[in-house]
Amino acid sequence: MDNFNYSVPTKIYFGKGQIKHLTEMKEYGNKVLMVYGGGSIKRNGIYDAAIALLKEAEIEVVELSGVEPNPRIETVRKGAEICKAEGVDMILAVGGGSTIDCSKVIGGAAKYDGDAWDLVTNPLLIEASLPIFSILTLSATGSEMDAFAVISNMATNDKIGTASPLFKPVFSILDPEYTFSVPKRQTAAGTADIMSHTFENYFTNVEGAGIQGHLCEAVLKTLVEYAPIAMTDPENYDARANLMWASSLAINGLLSDGAGVAWTAHPIEHELSAYYDITHGEGLAIITPVWMETCMEKEPRTIADFAKFGRVVFGISGDDDEAVAKAAVAELRKFLFETLEIPSTLRAVGIDTKENFPIMAEKAAKGCRGSYVALTAEDIEAMLERMF
Ligand code: NZQ
Ligand code: ZN
Repeated sequence: MDNFNYSVPTKIYFGKGQIKHLTEMKEYGNKVLMVYGGGSIKRNGIYDAAIALLKEAEIEVVELSGVEPNPRIETVRKGAEICKAEGVDMILAVGGGSTIDCSKVIGGAAKYDGDAWDLVTNPLLIEASLPIFSILTLSATGSEMDAFAVISNMATNDKIGTASPLFKPVFSILDPEYTFSVPKRQTAAGTADIMSHTFENYFTNVEGAGIQGHLCEAVLKTLVEYAPIAMTDPENYDARANLMWASSLAINGLLSDGAGVAWTAHPIEHELSAYYDITHGEGLAIITPVWMETCMEKEPRTIADFAKFGRVVFGISGDDDEAVAKAAVAELRKFLFETLEIPSTLRAVGIDTKENFPIMAEKAAKGCRGSYVALTAEDIEAMLERMF
């Protein structure tokens, strides 16, 4: 196991009615920028509940709505301008990963004199941030408990992740009931995202990271058990609760620190979103089985790891590692594309041309450096062809 420094200062208020803690924001200031997306929070009542509590705490509210899935740099700039003009003290993100990510970079940009995009391309420039708070409404990215933010610049076809310890929310409210209204499609995509974060951490070349590996297996088993329940019974509290906590645990460092991980599926997916604006979790679901097959073909030493995954997570039996590993990938496909009903090809998510594949592969290969199985731009282009 590698050395690591672990610190997650984010306080989690988990469960029914925990929104009452919103009034504690008063300790951080008198004026908040409340950031949200396309309006789901108005339809399910979370908006009204939050506004009432902020009023009770005598916190003045200014709003930024319309944050896009795959949040845009233009929206970050707009938010930062509001913060500067209005003298905002803190930011409350109410939504999924897109809203939380956008809020984080707004927080940094509000304290920065140059263009917000600088903070995305160079995280070292993030020297200060307004405090960030979140009310999570979609179990997926883990942004509610991590340092990352992913922002898109469609003018340059870039979708880039940045990070700062200052972006870790002060507190996040995780009420599983707030995810009852998440549609099937987003429930599935969110599950695929959590699963991918866990895979990115699970498949590592570092020896002896046993506890991290076993924690990954627990998260994967939890997803396989509870996501199908949430798909068919969206108001099942325990199903939603297990997905919600899995979302946070998969990416808050618990599964990765000490395990020397470097991610692969994510840099590839970010190119898909940057060029075709697809849903993050759907892209990851399409990539993952092809990535697993590519790993085994390129480096047969990995077959034993994929067989272990199949035995522990799907309960596949047999002594022949290769047969078990193949069955594991088949089970995973069944889970993603049949149980979760995620489209299984790039064509099926609306990508109708291969013309950008070479440049996408080139860019993704840079992001995959140091990963479990080293992938060249040629490998990634071949994977994109297979997914098409
Ligand atoms: O905008 P509204 O109207 O709120 O609707 C959203 C949106 O259309 C809807 N939704 C959210 N909560 C809902 C709901 N609908 C009904 N009921 C609710 N309770 O769901 C749609 C998708 O929301 P979005 O925030 O885009 O989804 P997600 O949480 O999957 O976030 C995706 C973004 O996060 C980035 C992705 O790349 C993508 O840009 N990621 C962030 C990470 C991080 N910060 O650590 C890591 C991830 O790997 C990922 O890259
Ligand atoms: Zn992700």
